[in-house]
Amino acid sequence: MALLGILFMYTPLRIVGTRFFSMASEVYISGTHSAAFITCPNDTVAKEIARGIVEKKLAACVNIVPQITSIYEWKGKIEEDSEVLMMIKTRSSKVPALTEFVRSVHPYEVAEVISLPIDQGNPPYLKWVGDVVPE
Ligand SMILES: *[C@@H]1O[C@H](CO)[C@@H](O)[C@H](O)[C@H]1NC(C)=O
Repeated sequence: MALLGILFMYTPLRIVGTRFFSMASEVYISGTHSAAFITCPNDTVAKEIARGIVEKKLAACVNIVPQITSIYEWKGKIEEDSEVLMMIKTRSSKVPALTEFVRSVHPYEVAEVISLPIDQGNPPYLKWVGDVVPE
């Protein structure tokens, strides 16, 4: 039954494919979702925080980028550290709650949490982010 439903839906979607996706792209309003960036000391900490973020529906997806090198000034000294980077996709309205959660679990005295609004993207992907993360 479910398969039949998919087949019936699939054909008209294919025929009007172009129009369907251009309509869907009009539905996404620039800035509704954001990409957030968090640095972590290592993979173990990043995975634990990422799991918490997704379980609490504070984001749809967290990518952990291994082995980055960070050079920064801290308390008057130039530091160089090996870290990992978390790339997070969520609703922009969730960024304050995401920040609060990260502050409560992150080992750093001052955790890096920054976000940038997502301007455009693949409409079905942006829809998925909105479906996973409640308003
Ligand atoms: C990861 O970082 C945390 C916090 O700085 C530290 O306690 C832990 O030992 C580190 N784990 C590994 C495997 O390096």
